[in-house]
Amino acid sequence: MLSRHVKLLDGEMVFIRPLKPEDAALYPDFLSDVTMPDLRLRFFSVMREVSPELIDKLVHYDPAHAMAFIALDTDGHMLGVVRLHDDDSGDAGEFAILLRSHLKGHGLGWLMMKHMIAYAKEHGLRTVRGQVLVENTTMLQMCEELGFHSATDPDEPGVKRVELPLAEVSEEAMA
Ligand SMILES: CC(C)(COP(=O)(O)OP(=O)(O)OC[C@H]1O[C@@H](n2cnc3c(N)ncnc32)[C@H](O)[C@@H]1OP(=O)(O)O)[C@@H](O)C(=O)NCCC(=O)NCCS
Repeated sequence: MLSRHVKLLDGEMVFIRPLKPEDAALYPDFLSDVTMPDLRLRFFSVMREVSPELIDKLVHYDPAHAMAFIALDTDGHMLGVVRLHDDDSGDAGEFAILLRSHLKGHGLGWLMMKHMIAYAKEHGLRTVRGQVLVENTTMLQMCEELGFHSATDPDEPGVKRVELPLAEVSEEAMA
């Protein structure tokens, strides 16, 4: 399933669908509500703003090797984005996720991760992987609850590598 309506913990309805190039127009408003610390948790580097060039790159992903889903409220505002890029083997995908900072803790991250994992399983991937900064305890806890295994990266002690073997995931769990 590529698109679906979901309900946040506070009852707000949200639409999740594939990200399209024209969604570049929604990014400035979205990013105006993302704090610098959250940008660092997502991009692993201190950045004051996301450049138009990077936005252009983010929305023009190659659908043969990547997928991205956007979450929208009922007024069409962008609330978050989760992406999945296949690795060279084609067996695994690496995810990244970012939400409006004021929306954190409302259950959207959980629902977007589940949507991405269900897509990865349907798409025939064997593994979903990610890199998470060690201080990103919310993300690490959420990954653990979603069934990811985690290990410290020996080359980068500040980063945890999380990995979810999709054979361990039931379709009902991601519904
Ligand atoms: C990390 C991030 C995506 C998490 O999203 P979020 O919407 O804040 O998280 P949620 O509200 O979905 O989940 C928070 C909690 O609810 C739990 N939860 C949410 N919905 C749930 C549900 N339906 N059933 C069970 N548990 C649920 C989560 O496991 C987590 O547990 P906790 O309450 O014990 O902490 C978000 O904070 C973010 O964008 N951060 C900045 C960027 C970032 O860190 N990206 C990750 C880079 S790898």
